[in-house]
Amino acid sequence: MLVRKARLQDASNVYDLVNSLSGDGTLLKRAFAEICENIRDFIVAESDAGVFLGCGALHLYGPHLSEVRSIVVMPEAKGQGAGGRILNALIDEAEEHGIHSVCLFTRIPDFFFKYGFRTVEEKTELPDKIFKDCQTCPRLHRCDEVAMVRGRIPRISILGPRIEAEQLVRISG
Ligand SMILES: CC(C)(COP(=O)(O)OP(=O)(O)OC[C@H]1O[C@@H](n2cnc3c(N)ncnc32)[C@H](O)[C@@H]1OP(=O)(O)O)[C@@H](O)C(=O)NCCC(=O)NCCS
Repeated sequence: MLVRKARLQDASNVYDLVNSLSGDGTLLKRAFAEICENIRDFIVAESDAGVFLGCGALHLYGPHLSEVRSIVVMPEAKGQGAGGRILNALIDEAEEHGIHSVCLFTRIPDFFFKYGFRTVEEKTELPDKIFKDCQTCPRLHRCDEVAMVRGRIPRISILGPRIEAEQLVRISG
């Protein structure tokens, strides 16, 4: 198995797999154009024969926060370590960027506990995530996801009230 950065040629596999699980709210729906635009956020796993096994993305909010998104493995490839390896690669990437806080929303917290994530009591403790996705989500008032974070909960947000860039660097550094 190979876990590597995605290329634009992976976009259609990513699109098909992510959207196959968006109908029931397991994953957020992603447009093909959005996946192409953000393909550099994605990690993919493939078999030794080059068959696509799964993907996951790391969204960078800023030096204070990143988010694991769209992590999913092909049904026939589950239980073979691909999901864990993709998640570890995304965590490594956050660390390479010097980001000490990785968040996500999920219905399967048990999977993420193994990788150092813990639940966050109130989703409002992650205002950037709320500003980015929740406000436009059809499940806003009946959200059944658990908020989780690995590392510290950031003390700042950048998608809400404006703050100076200099202040952001000082607080998150
Ligand atoms: C969650 C998912 C990505 C895991 O991928 P996977 O390749 O099957 O996982 P792995 O084989 O790498 O498993 C790694 C570990 O997590 C555990 N695990 C896997 N799925 C789990 C789940 N749903 N709940 C709890 N633990 C789980 C495995 O038992 C394994 O534990 P071990 O190391 O102690 O043996 C995959 O099941 C999937 O695509 N699910 C549907 C999409 C989804 O719900 N994504 C999360 C959205 S936030």
